[in-house]
This record gives sequence, structure tokens and C-alpha cells, in this order.
Amino acid sequence: MEIYNFGKELIVEAGKFIETRMTQEFKVDSKSNPNDLVTDVDKETEQFLYTKILERFPEHRIIGEEGHGENINDTKGVIWIVDPIDGTLNFVHQGENFAISIGVFIDGTPYCGLVYDCMKQDLYHAKYGNGAFLNEQALAPAEDVPLNQSLIAINPKRILGEATRSPFFEIMAKSRSVRSYGSAALEFAMLARGQISALLFFKLYPWDYTGGAIITGELGYKTTDIYGEELPLLSTTSVISGNPKIHSEILEHFTDDKILHDFHDKFHDL
Ligand code: IPD
Ligand code: CA
Ligand code: CA
Repeated sequence: MEIYNFGKELIVEAGKFIETRMTQEFKVDSKSNPNDLVTDVDKETEQFLYTKILERFPEHRIIGEEGHGENINDTKGVIWIVDPIDGTLNFVHQGENFAISIGVFIDGTPYCGLVYDCMKQDLYHAKYGNGAFLNEQALAPAEDVPLNQSLIAINPKRILGEATRSPFFEIMAKSRSVRSYGSAALEFAMLARGQISALLFFKLYPWDYTGGAIITGELGYKTTDIYGEELPLLSTTSVISGNPKIHSEILEHFTDDKILHDFHDKFHDL
């Protein structure tokens, strides 16, 4: 409970840090390509989280998007997986619709998940086995909404250039409609609230999904890769998340060996 309560206070504190810092000037750089942005605020917020966690728990380890824990290659002990700003493009272009995401694991087992939308002051949180909450309010369990009555979230940039036989096209066509909000953590939060019924990603990093996957897991939503396997903590992966019905409906589209092989070559390039 100590780690969970500390995590909740810390993520709100980090949110206040972002809110103040974003009113001042900050630098925007690109990383792997001109559209992959990072700002001083991402880096400083990760440093803020890193320092505070280690001050309180010197023996814990931290993996962050902006460089912390690059040398961690086992899951022993307590590991915090941190995305200081999930939705950096939204942060830069919109000044909202981004979140801090944290997943905490003990010996590789989920311990707690936290997603904080600091501009709305919405804290999504769950301690493994204890249900999931939005601020003080318990969130409702997953309902078995089928694909044809569902809004689903997909990153459209990843779909561009795909052959039309891609299962993603079939899934999108079958759904009621498709949305893209630009923050995987917030899309998990919307799933937790029942605002969308599934999300699909070709390639996410552990800091994008661990917080949200723990929270939605508490509500009965299922999250795996496109092979139906449990998600890794130390590498990139495809991600399918939704209520058990829609999850298996979506997974049925990923049975063609050739398609799976192509996806693997393209998106599991670690
Ligand atoms: C991104 C967001 C986005 C997802 C991208 C991620 P970032 O994270 O989660 O929704 O589609 O794949 O990289 O870079 O804003 O932390
Ligand atoms: Ca992210
Ligand atoms: Ca990020």
C-alpha cells in the first residue's frame, strides 16, 4: 500500500510540475524522425519522477521513455515503468490530451497502474486485485460490447502504407467507427471508462501501456499482443485491449501466418 499511495501522490505532484513548467519556454527536439518529438518538459518530468522515487525507495529501479533504465534487462525486484508525457504531440500542439503513465511491477508481477491527465486532474489508478478508480470513483467492470457496436482506437499513422488485406482494415470496417486520440495511456483510460471498447496498436513501448493495462485489467478487460500472448515488460510489442468478447473477435483476424510474419518483421524490430 505504501508504494501505491506514494505513487498516487507523486504522479499528481509531477502533474503540477508539468502544468507550471509548460507556462514557461521549453525546447522541442525530434528523436527517431521529425515527427517523433520530445521536449524539455518530458525530460525534466522523467528526472523529477526518477529523483523522487529513488529518494523514497533507493532500492527500486526505474525504466523511463527518456532514457532511464536503458541497461535494465531483468524484471527482479520493484520496477517503475514511467512515461513522463504520453501524447507529446498533443502536449506540443494542443497543450492538453496527454497523460503521465506509470506501471509498477514486483518481480515481473503487476503491482499498480497510474495514469494522470493533469490538465483535467483525472487520476486513473488501480492496485492489482483491488479494482480500478477514477479519482475516488470506482470504475465499472468491462461489458461485452461486440465489435460492430464499438468505437475502437487505432493509431492511423501506423496504418498508412499497409496493404488493403491488413486485418486492421477489416477490423476498422467491422467496428461502428474508429477514433485516434494520440495518447495510448488516455485511450486505456477511455477504455476503463467505457467510452471506447477496444484499442489496437502495431507497436507500443512498455511505458505506453503498463499503467493503463493494469488499470483496465482490474475491470476485466483483456490485453495481449496480436498473437494472444501476455505483453512483455522490457521490449516493444503490438497491443490489443478490450472486453473479452471483442478481444477474441479481434484476435480471430490475426490467424494468417504470412500476415503475422510480416507484422513481426516490421514492428518487432528491437
Ligand atoms: C505515443 C502515444 C501514441 C502512440 C505512439 C506513442 P509519446 O507516445 O502513446 O498514442 O500511438 O505509438 O509513441 O511518444 O507521446 O509518449
Ligand atoms: Ca508514450
Ligand atoms: Ca512519452
